[in-house]
Formats: sequence, C-alpha cells, structure tokens
Amino acid sequence: MTYTFDQFCADSHAAIAKNSGNTGREKIRENLEKLLVNEEFIKENLESQSSGKTLLYHDKDFDFYIMAHGTDARDRTGKPHDHGASWAVYGQAIGLTNMTIWNRIDDGNQIGHAELNAIQTFSLNPGQAALFDTGIIHSTAHPKPARWIRVTGTNLDTIERYSYDVDRQVINRMVPG
Ligand SMILES: [Fe+2]
Repeated sequence: MTYTFDQFCADSHAAIAKNSGNTGREKIRENLEKLLVNEEFIKENLESQSSGKTLLYHDKDFDFYIMAHGTDARDRTGKPHDHGASWAVYGQAIGLTNMTIWNRIDDGNQIGHAELNAIQTFSLNPGQAALFDTGIIHSTAHPKPARWIRVTGTNLDTIERYSYDVDRQVINRMVPG
C-alpha cells in the first residue's frame, strides 16, 4: 500500500512523542524513505518546486517542520552550516544532493574564526534520506536540478546557527533568508 504524506506526518508525530532524541529522529528518516517512493506525492508537492522552499506541515505539539525544497540551478554549492540546537533530516526526491560532513578542529576561542576539515562525503539519491543530528556541520551541493524534503526539529529561521567559510576560516551567524 502506498505510504501517504498524512501517514508520514502522523508517524513522525508518534515517533517524536515516543522518543524526542536520536531514536525518534532516525525513525523519521526511515519513514521519509518510504514516502519518497510515493510518485503521486512527489508529483504534487515537489516537481514544481523549482527554487526556494514550501511549508508542507508544522507539528504544533513538537514544533517540527516538513518542507519541500528545490532548485533548477546547475552546479549549486552551499556553504557548510550547522542547524543550531535543532536537527535536520534530508530526503531526496529528484536529482541528487552531494553531502559533505565537516569537523570543527579549532577550539572556538577566537571570535569569528573557525577551522573545518571534511570528514565524510556521500551522495543522497532519490529514495534516500539522511539524519544530521544536533551539532553536525554539513554542506550540500546540487550538480543538476533537484528536489528534496527537509524535516527540521524547529523553525531554523528563528534560532541561532552558523555558516562557515572553509578557505577563509571564518564563522558567520546565519540570518533568515
Ligand atoms: Fe542543512
């Protein structure tokens, strides 16, 4: 039977109700992979998402968000960033996302300065979802047009979080946009 978006929202709610930590978030990642094979859902909610993001669901009890994201750009590369006190699950629907996980190697004592090392790279292909738990720094690259779902533990535009310029070794507070 087709796994529907309504079922995904209900299961995500139940997963966080049962365990608000890594276990619940991992359950959302697993269930998102089931949703990503629902072609009707992708057609209705992602195909036309040629840029930016659209809110699909906000859980009023636990404050997590499910957003549709997309780009029609070619060779789009994002800066490394964290998700502040939140977490994020990325699930690929169309195209691919090249992910890089970064490790911060300085002590954080110098204001505005950060040194990062890339520790892992992988491609997220259609039907695959990845959890970036609290504290993880990652960057995304889209070599061709892509559509993806992102689930976040809260509204990332309202919390303190940072982006990183690896070459210049600079850390910047992110502003909503
Ligand atoms: Fe992210």
